[in-house]
Amino acid sequence: MDVFKCVSTLSSIRSYIKKEVPEEVIMEVLEAGRLAPSAHNDQPWQFILIRDKAKLNDMTKYCISGSFISQVDFAVVVVTDPSSKWHEIDSTRAVQNMALTAWSNKLGTCWIGRLEKKGLMDYLNIPQNLNILTVLPFGYFDDNLAGGVKYRKDPNEVFHLDSFGNRL
Ligand SMILES: Cc1cc2nc3c(=O)[nH]c(=O)nc-3n(C[C@H](O)[C@H](O)[C@H](O)COP(=O)(O)O)c2cc1C
Repeated sequence: MDVFKCVSTLSSIRSYIKKEVPEEVIMEVLEAGRLAPSAHNDQPWQFILIRDKAKLNDMTKYCISGSFISQVDFAVVVVTDPSSKWHEIDSTRAVQNMALTAWSNKLGTCWIGRLEKKGLMDYLNIPQNLNILTVLPFGYFDDNLAGGVKYRKDPNEVFHLDSFGNRL
């Protein structure tokens, strides 16, 4: 898929269909995260691939604003290392790489922001010095129900030419 087409159609998916994702597609999504750029090339991230369906189900306990995690074929828990100054910014770029790569393979995802982090850290044996940025569920979805309209500020609300306040 053309990059701009992918960016302009990408939307958060919160309802998924039951369909297995091929191994090579899962690995391509993970690779897209690993290949992201980072400040000083610190790569302050770890990616936990969750494929176990019982675990995905269990994780609804910790994914407060993302109970749809129980519907997906796999999820990626994005773990960052706070000893690197830009860990969250860098890892957010990895998230976007994964979301776009997934989308180009007809897979949806949605950033799960409200997490019961302490419980999830323990559940996944994540060392205490690390931090969970987000959990990304990935799965196929019904095209007919997916987004379509993007609710964004108008260009004239956010674009400026040469100086702040000069409309483009
Ligand atoms: C940092 C961040 C946190 C988010 N947290 C949640 C969340 O907890 N649950 C959810 O359903 N969507 C969450 N979202 C998705 C946003 O609601 C969504 O991106 C936004 O409404 C724009 O819609 P779109 O992604 O379909 O274009 C989050 C997005 C970001 C970037």
